[in-house]
Amino acid sequence: MGSNRSHLVLLGPPGAGKGTQAGLLRKELGIPHISTGDILRDEVQRGSELGIKAKQLMDRGQLVPDDVMVGIVRERIAAPDCKEGFILDGFPRSLPQAVGLEKLDGDLPPLVAVSLDVPLDEVVHRLGQRRTCRGCKTMYHLTLNPPETEGVCDRCGGDLYQREDDKKDVIQARLKVYQRETEPLLGFYRERGALVEVDGTGSAAEVFRRVLAGLEARA
Ligand code: AP5
Repeated sequence: MGSNRSHLVLLGPPGAGKGTQAGLLRKELGIPHISTGDILRDEVQRGSELGIKAKQLMDRGQLVPDDVMVGIVRERIAAPDCKEGFILDGFPRSLPQAVGLEKLDGDLPPLVAVSLDVPLDEVVHRLGQRRTCRGCKTMYHLTLNPPETEGVCDRCGGDLYQREDDKKDVIQARLKVYQRETEPLLGFYRERGALVEVDGTGSAAEVFRRVLAGLEARA
């Protein structure tokens, strides 16, 4: 892309590939990938007060309150590494969060929201197959992208685990919350002329090519 100054939001249902595409964009654009899910999971792992409260909601597929999330993002994007832009993955996730983000934008270039469109049966399958490294957070798909040794991360040798919220009944709850709270953001960003819609099916590399083409077309 012409300029590295980017201010991106990745949208899509759970398992659409937001984290995967954000990781690829981070390498391509050289700006931080901010995953609110990862921030919360770190808090859970540390056993902080926020982590203890968040875990109860996350394990049921429910959202952490908007004011808490806006506060977390406000603090994170104020860090010096976000000066040239950033990629938000998992935020905003509700209309109040999107409005909150607009108020935090400061002197950043206009926000572009990239929506990954993946059928719900496909995301359910992807989430059931996901394993994540406890150490470096690399993700695997048990059939499409399995680790060389079962249960062990190829990259750092860390332990692979299945997220509590990737169990069948919680996936269904997360999809309902997505449809009710997050899907309306597509209209919110479309109205602002800020939405890039991308077919999120096919390999991660194919999707990435479409994401870059969609962003180039706007530049
Ligand atoms: P979060 O961690 O944000 O989860 P999510 O949005 O449900 O998204 P996922 O991480 O499950 O999926 P993804 O779209 O990133 O896909 P991925 O690349 O991993 O949030 C978790 C919880 O935290 C929430 O439920 C909520 O409680 C709380 N929370 C977080 N942010 C919040 C906020 N702003 N407000 C309130 N609460 C908040 O890919 C999925 C799998 O598919 C992987 O195995 C991957 O390898 C595979 N895959 C990826 N791309 C492809 C492809 N093209 N083809 C095949 N497989 C693929």
